[in-house]
Formats: sequence, structure tokens, C-alpha cells
Amino acid sequence: MWNYGSVCANGLLLLSLLSISGYHTAEIPWELNDGHPSTTDAAESGSFFERSSDSELKPWSYMYGQMVGVGANGPQYAIGPSEWHTAYEACGGQRQSPIHIEPAHFQANTGSPALKPLTFVDYDDAALNDTWTFLNNGHSVQITASFITIPQLQGGDLPGKYIFKQAHLHWGSHDLVGSEHVINGRRYPVEIHLVHQKKTLPDATAANFSDGLAVVGVLGELSAETHPLFDSIIHALELITSPSTTASVPLPGFTLSDLVPRNHSYVRYLGSLTTPPCSEAVIWSVLPNTLPISQNQLNALRRLWSKTKRSAKNNANAAVVLEDNFRPLQPLHGRTPQYFYDATEAQI
Ligand SMILES: *[C@@H]1O[C@H](CO)[C@@H](O)[C@H](O)[C@H]1NC(C)=O
Ligand SMILES: *[C@@H]1O[C@H](CO)[C@@H](O)[C@H](O)[C@H]1NC(C)=O
Ligand SMILES: *[C@@H]1O[C@H](CO)[C@@H](O)[C@H](O)[C@H]1NC(C)=O
Repeated sequence: MWNYGSVCANGLLLLSLLSISGYHTAEIPWELNDGHPSTTDAAESGSFFERSSDSELKPWSYMYGQMVGVGANGPQYAIGPSEWHTAYEACGGQRQSPIHIEPAHFQANTGSPALKPLTFVDYDDAALNDTWTFLNNGHSVQITASFITIPQLQGGDLPGKYIFKQAHLHWGSHDLVGSEHVINGRRYPVEIHLVHQKKTLPDATAANFSDGLAVVGVLGELSAETHPLFDSIIHALELITSPSTTASVPLPGFTLSDLVPRNHSYVRYLGSLTTPPCSEAVIWSVLPNTLPISQNQLNALRRLWSKTKRSAKNNANAAVVLEDNFRPLQPLHGRTPQYFYDATEAQI
């Protein structure tokens, strides 16, 4: 269990970063189709977040004009965030994410009826063999694992039970940016997304339903603490510096609860995936209480690559560091986020 301000707590976030590899089930549209990423440059062809049948869809990026390869007709470029909607229609929709969560919504449990607490079921369960898998998919670092009983997100006025699928991270090139959601005008250096899928839906179609996914957003806040486990965490990220690489790492004692602050206050709104295809399928719960992250941990994330060194040699572009992988803020279009205030800090 997370403990604020303790050395141990900081180490747990390190562990969480480390644990981004593992069993990869790939049932969510933005994951690889077969769950076994090759060591080729698949990420650069734009195929990573697409099902194989969508292979004609355009490669996308957080930058503008990023070269993704050289085709028969010359260089190919990824589309940047303001162009995503030209190839992925939903990205121009009315319930897009991320958003700016304004202070006006930070009041005692409001809404009619008031929201109920979220429950993180089996979040304390160990992964099979204590093994967690990290994937560098060219856009983020993704963490998965196999479980005897898959952790679930319940309660919180969700329309059913949601099973854990994967966690991934968004971070910046410097400490003042990185998170996707902005709270009270403040951007944090990292944001963890815990992605869950509605239990009753088939994997392939969950993103086609307006309530198909439930994502918990957890913000990381820069902390002065460092932890002795740091070297092993760095080591794990070093295993996946190239895109399309995975590493399975034993992390005894690490559980998903280490990625969730003890205070389960949350901001609820209906939104979307923050990457193409931007499916408007997400029930968001953004937690305003943060987890500490050290400067060294942030720096380790910034040593990941979104393009391989090998392909960079064939490109005019230098190899591209994987950072600033956060989408610009999206308009509310009349949505009113609600706030659940956790007065008890119940244990997970
Ligand atoms: C767990 O570890 C045992 C012993 O090392 C191994 O035989 C087994 O295949 C592992 N299971 C998984 C799911 O990795
Ligand atoms: C799900 O939505 C995608 C477009 O976002 C569409 O191509 C696909 O056919 C849909 N699948 C189902 C089963 O409706
Ligand atoms: C939980 O967090 C909220 C928002 O920061 C805060 O207002 C509330 O007092 C916290 N609850 C407890 C029990 O500390």
C-alpha cells in the first residue's frame, strides 16, 4: 500500500515504472494485434495502435511533420494532434480527452445523485509469478501482467464491473509538462492511466461503446526522494529503450495498488481515448491526489525512444526521444465534470 512521503512509497512508483512489460493481451484497439511485438520498426509504420484490418490508417504522432519512414513515393510523415481527426474521425468529436479540470468542480460531493466511492477490487493481488511486462510501443510505456483473478474497477457509479487491461504513462521533456489532464491550471510531470474494460463486452468492440472503458488517471508529482531500488528500475527501462520491445521483469510484492494514491477522491467526466482512434468510450476518473516521482525516474522515462537508432540512420531526422507524449487539452463542449470527495481514505 502506498504511503505518502515515505522512501518506500517512492520506490513503489519506481517499481511501477519498471513493471510496464509483461503479459500482453492486446485486446484494446491501441495495442498490438497479436500481443507479441516484434523487434522490427512496426511502431514507425503506424501499425501499433491499429488492428491489422486498419493497416491503411495513417501513422500519428505528438509532433508535427515527424518522418515515419520512406515509401515508394518518398518520405512519409505522421499527422500531429491537430490533424488526427483527418484520419481518425472521432478525434474531432464532442467528448474528447484530456480536459482542463477547473477549481469550480472541486467541491464536496455534488451532483444529483452524488457520486459513490470507487472500489479497486483485487488491486492488492500479486501478478502471476510476480512478473510484470513492459512494452515500449513507440507512443508510451505500457505495463501488463497475468493474474489469477484480474483486478477490477467497481463502484463509483460505473455501469458494471470493469476489468484491468493495462497501465501506461504520459510524460514530458521537462518537469513543467507531461500530464494529459490539467488540474486547477497545473500540469504535472507524469500521468499514469489505469485502463479497464467493461467486463461484459468482447475485447474487440469495447471501444465502440460509450461506456466500454473506464480509465483512472493518476498524476505524479516531482519529489526530492530517491530510492535504493532506482538502479533496478533504470535497468528495466533500459531493456525497452527501442520501440516495439518488451521486457518481463520479476517485481516481488508489486501490485496495482502501488499505482493508486490512498485518497480516492476523483473527478468524473465522460471522454475518450487520448490517442487515435480517440474512441469516445471512456468513463474517466481523474484523481487529484498525486504520487511522488523522483527526478531520476523522470529522466529514465526520457531516455526511451520512439524511433530506433537503426532507422534514424536512414532518415534525415535524428532518432526521436519518446517524451511529451501528451495530447493538447480538448474543449468541454458542455460537459460538467463531477467531483467525489473521499473523506475517509479507505484502504484499497
Ligand atoms: C512461473 O514460473 C515457473 C517456474 O519458474 C514457470 O515454470 C512458469 O512457466 C511460470 N509461469 C508463468 C505464467 O510465467
Ligand atoms: C468499431 O468501431 C470501428 C471504428 O471506430 C469500426 O471500424 C468497427 O467496425 C466497429 N466494430 C464493431 C463490431 O462495431
Ligand atoms: C482527500 O483528498 C481531497 C482532495 O485533495 C481532500 O479535500 C480531502 O480532505 C482528502 N481526504 C482526507 C481524508 O484527507
